[in-house]
Amino acid sequence: MKKEVLTCISQLGGHVGGEVTLGGWLYRGRSSGKVLFLVVRDGTGLCQCIVEKGKIDDELFEQLKHLGQESSLCVTGTVRKEDRSVGGFELAVSAARIVNEAVDYPITPKSHGVDFLLKHRHLHLRSQQQWCIGKVRHTVIDSIRRYYNDNGFTLIDTPIFTTIVGEGEQTLFEVDYFGSPLHLAQTGQLYLESAAMSYGKVYCFGPTFRAEKSKTRRHLTEFWMVEPEVAYIELGELLELAEDFVCAIVESVLEKNRPELEELGADIELLEKIKKPFIRLTYSEVVDILTGEKATKFMADQLAGFEAEKFTIENRIIELEKPQQGLKKWQQEKNAKELVELQGALGEVVRNIENNPKHAQLAADFRWGKDLGGSDETIISLMHDKPVFVTHYPKEVKAFYMKHDRQKEDVVLNFDLLASAGFGEIIGGSIREDDYDILLGKVNAMGYNPADYQWYLDLRKYGSVPHGGFGLGVERTVAWITGEKHIRQCIAFPRMMDKVHI
Ligand code: 4AD
Repeated sequence: MKKEVLTCISQLGGHVGGEVTLGGWLYRGRSSGKVLFLVVRDGTGLCQCIVEKGKIDDELFEQLKHLGQESSLCVTGTVRKEDRSVGGFELAVSAARIVNEAVDYPITPKSHGVDFLLKHRHLHLRSQQQWCIGKVRHTVIDSIRRYYNDNGFTLIDTPIFTTIVGEGEQTLFEVDYFGSPLHLAQTGQLYLESAAMSYGKVYCFGPTFRAEKSKTRRHLTEFWMVEPEVAYIELGELLELAEDFVCAIVESVLEKNRPELEELGADIELLEKIKKPFIRLTYSEVVDILTGEKATKFMADQLAGFEAEKFTIENRIIELEKPQQGLKKWQQEKNAKELVELQGALGEVVRNIENNPKHAQLAADFRWGKDLGGSDETIISLMHDKPVFVTHYPKEVKAFYMKHDRQKEDVVLNFDLLASAGFGEIIGGSIREDDYDILLGKVNAMGYNPADYQWYLDLRKYGSVPHGGFGLGVERTVAWITGEKHIRQCIAFPRMMDKVHI
């Protein structure tokens, strides 16, 4: 049989009034006796296909009526503009061919638990939510590459098997490399520094591995990081590069993925405010904010907000749980789905109510010298509607390669960028120590073997210059932009400390 010429759903606008064939999967279907409403997805969008009894073979009509969710099929028909329909077009079907019948697809329109969906990730990738996140991630990655390629940076592919430690031994994954221990890359930065001395402006972009013994929503054991590195750069200029870069990513997603952001319920208004300049605070200023009255009041207001939200959710749940006569099946399913979602939201708001006093206390007790915890970052980023740079951390809490401030010996020339809306850190970066003796002292103080670091130290011996860079985590950035709570949703096959599902 001759293969049909397929038209993409995303291209239907160019075919109104004409006949096309779509090749896809049955997303959902319903019947009102003589008419079938089949929503088909094809990877580029959704389209409601209307099948009227009598317009196609009776036997095929019956098969389509009982066709299981995610069965694959090709449908031919005339394209109609229909604003009320999903995607804005409809297909008046004249012919159809079932390619593969799916029976009892495990992911039904009702809500499922997180574990169940992770175990079925190979199928869950077809859901609208995962599809939209994947589209946004694609744009984020595309705009990252574009940004550096268009701004004079050279791509350097740094190794995944590495010999020296970049970000602390606690999070190293050791591998047996033909009988000798090596590590999986925690960062490409140290190698990138040597390339920056050759090309001036470089970046690397690849998977990064951290044996993070933390099960938070912000940690994966395998994530993607882009790291630029620049010779002859100072901290102020590095911050300007980071904010320009983040604005370029957000702008690109707003331009290309508005429908996906809307579908995901992302805060588009907030994203539109992501414009230069971002807020700049030193670590010491952050300590003053956390321990001051403004933060105490902010936390109290937030608690009141959570209480009000809990009240609203509980009332809606009561309403939905009341027995309701005469509801159509689709309405019952819609209500059941809303109920499951509300129960999830209630669980979260209850957790927020429990955590708020603990986080408020942690902030009030914060003392200069400690690293900022996740809850401290959340408070600072929630208190501002733009991303916040936090600079000049105490040197004890930061990596050995960071240059200390020559005017204030106890802090380093570094920054973290906290995304807005309470999301927390998406970038970490610094100016690197460029003095041979100071760096050697730091390598020794860390207890590392200087022989292993000789090539890294060499960079400070042969034409050393001030230089610096940063790393942006892709999954955290996608989660922040899409409003996803957990970064595991922002990579197709997530790897976490406790579970690797498939
Ligand atoms: O702050 P980090 O550890 O910085 C570095 O690795 C530097 N070497 C970068 C550089 O200067 N070239 O990590 C940078 C970013 C974080 O801000 C975060 O977005 C992401 O990488 N990240 C993680 N993302 C997901 N899961 C984890 N376990 C992550 N650890 C860091």
